[in-house]
Amino acid sequence: MSRLESLISAMTLPEKLGQLTMTTGGYAVTGPARVEDPSGAIIAGTIGNLLNVVGTDDVFKMQRLAVEESRLRVPLLIGFDVIHGHRTLFPVPLAETALFDAATWALSAREAAIEASADGVAMTFAPMLDVSRDPRWGRSVEGPGEDPWLAARFAEAKVRGFQGADLAARDALAAVAKHFCAYGPVTAGRDYASVDISERTVHEVHLPAFAAAVAAGVAAVMPAFNDLAGVPMTANAALLRNWLRGHLRFDGVIVSDYNAIGELIHHGVAADLTEAAALALNAGVDIDMMANAYRQGLPSAVDRGLVSVAQIDASVRRVLLLKERLGLFEDPYRRGATSQAAATLAQRRALARAIGGRAIVMLKNGSSVLPLADSIRRLCVMGPLADAPAEMGGPWPGAADADAHVSVLAGLAASLPGVEVLHARGVAIDGESMADVGAAVELCAHADAVVLCLGEAAAMSGEAASRTELGLPGKQRAFAEAVLDRARALAKPVIALLFSGRPLIVPWLVEKADAVLACWFLGSEAGNAIADVVTGRISPSGRTPVTWARTAGQIPLFFGQRPSGRPADPKDRFTSKYLDAPNEPLFPFGHGLTYGNFTLSNLRVAPQQVRESESIEVRVDVTNDGARAAEETVFLFTHDTLASISRELLELKGFGKIALEPRQKGTVTLILPATELRFLGIDLASVFEPGEVEILVGPCADRLQLLKSRVHLLI
Ligand code: NOJ
Repeated sequence: MSRLESLISAMTLPEKLGQLTMTTGGYAVTGPARVEDPSGAIIAGTIGNLLNVVGTDDVFKMQRLAVEESRLRVPLLIGFDVIHGHRTLFPVPLAETALFDAATWALSAREAAIEASADGVAMTFAPMLDVSRDPRWGRSVEGPGEDPWLAARFAEAKVRGFQGADLAARDALAAVAKHFCAYGPVTAGRDYASVDISERTVHEVHLPAFAAAVAAGVAAVMPAFNDLAGVPMTANAALLRNWLRGHLRFDGVIVSDYNAIGELIHHGVAADLTEAAALALNAGVDIDMMANAYRQGLPSAVDRGLVSVAQIDASVRRVLLLKERLGLFEDPYRRGATSQAAATLAQRRALARAIGGRAIVMLKNGSSVLPLADSIRRLCVMGPLADAPAEMGGPWPGAADADAHVSVLAGLAASLPGVEVLHARGVAIDGESMADVGAAVELCAHADAVVLCLGEAAAMSGEAASRTELGLPGKQRAFAEAVLDRARALAKPVIALLFSGRPLIVPWLVEKADAVLACWFLGSEAGNAIADVVTGRISPSGRTPVTWARTAGQIPLFFGQRPSGRPADPKDRFTSKYLDAPNEPLFPFGHGLTYGNFTLSNLRVAPQQVRESESIEVRVDVTNDGARAAEETVFLFTHDTLASISRELLELKGFGKIALEPRQKGTVTLILPATELRFLGIDLASVFEPGEVEILVGPCADRLQLLKSRVHLLI
């Protein structure tokens, strides 16, 4: 008998349920607090997995209880939310998506895994793959934005990065694809609310990233908190058991979200923990995180015939198999056995700086005010986010030391040694006082340019951080307008830096400021990364992975919408539009300026007739007419104008990049396998339909900026 089978046959029911239970070690609070010392239960073998234990001292202490003092000596599985770095923070995932660079997405995950595993962690509750089209939802910050195809590419890269080539390696983390599925469209953007969307949208928009994660070998999946049309995901057998395990053949671990099994009672589908535990196990959930429902409820569920011991054994087998794949039976202390050399940490900080710079999206650069002119001698850096190092880490800062993040003020001062840097906060991020505004505004008179640092506090996005007004909090708008008016009167340029975990709704700022940079939350090296862009050390290249609305009433606003039977026509009242706002966004998906000036031309598509087994080669010339070297991003969209169902106006199918010197010209080549033009037909089965498909290539999802060609699909 194999090691795992003999272990299972030696286990009592409470020991089996211990393997299906995960409880907190209390290092971080990531859900409703309920912290009890798990030591006794670990020794008793009735807790087999922990979250929120970090650092080799604590990890080894707990692990020792399991492997030296418990009867069966099964090692613990230790998980932590390593979302965008561990001790060194990279940009928040939404910001990192703006790089449109899968190799870098994988690289930062690899570095995070190296750091977290050195702290004894073996599993990360990441990547978060929820497609989000509603910026009111605070968790938009944790994911890859609005597009399903992009989310799938992000999923593959992150799984590859976290897990590495061999899960047993001492620096590999088991990845957890979350939150399965359709958590993004919670009603009205309110976290944990109900979701009711079509089955088509579930399959077209919300499942592809999970399919990609499974294809990439993800070790585990976490069901979402929400219900989907009345069926909570934690109990959703149709999607967990039939689709994920059955259709995709996923044989890894399914770990519940924090107390989600217990919350089946609040959802109103379970009367007590026994029913809740039975529903979750029957749906395919292996590990109960923080509800204690399996330990308390499954014994009576077995007695009542709601579940069988064979089902429990199957879940235990999957958990033990994961522990085995992670190499924990061979050496439970392998993660944490190495220390990180100072040089390695410095290199990681340098990487965080480089990635941070590339995540910045330059939304506007009027009169080419950026990069800052060499003639600037005095720079005024103001606003509530100018000297706010802890905010730079974003809403999920892992195990990072918040005092070690670089503020904008520190970054600019370090990068501009010959420049006098003046500073005033003006107003708090979210407060009522305007007392300091007058003095701050007066600083404009003493500076050659103003950098105005505005936005959200880190805690205004992330879990349980939905907002209904997506403008600047507190008195920031009043403060910013006072600065902008004064600076205009003095003819001083104003560069606005916007910090946020979502696209904010700030059309007035975009109109009035000379330049606007979306700086999201860039992590440990935020201030240095910003200084690199502002001073021109690097040219900005980030592109927004979410559409920016003009007004909250436009939400949800995303490029992948279907055509209306009455397309907007300003001359015809009875067409699809608003009375009080345009349909167009403030900034489309993919928008982002550079210090170059790019023109796309000569779109070629070959062959012009393709079969499903073939690929389409799409080529476009790119010229940099600007005065500076820069990198351009080119997007490939398709539109099937006539099909058995109405197809999205634009579907993202690829992107490419090219770095060009001034007056240099190059060609971007993108390969589109024709099989990517399959879609879910009228009965939701995948089809490849003959006919014409438009190929659209350009710098963003604004149709007016896209070059167009077409291919003919043959069957
Ligand atoms: C709740 C969150 O929804 C989930 O993303 C996270 O992994 C767990 N808490 C554990 O911290």
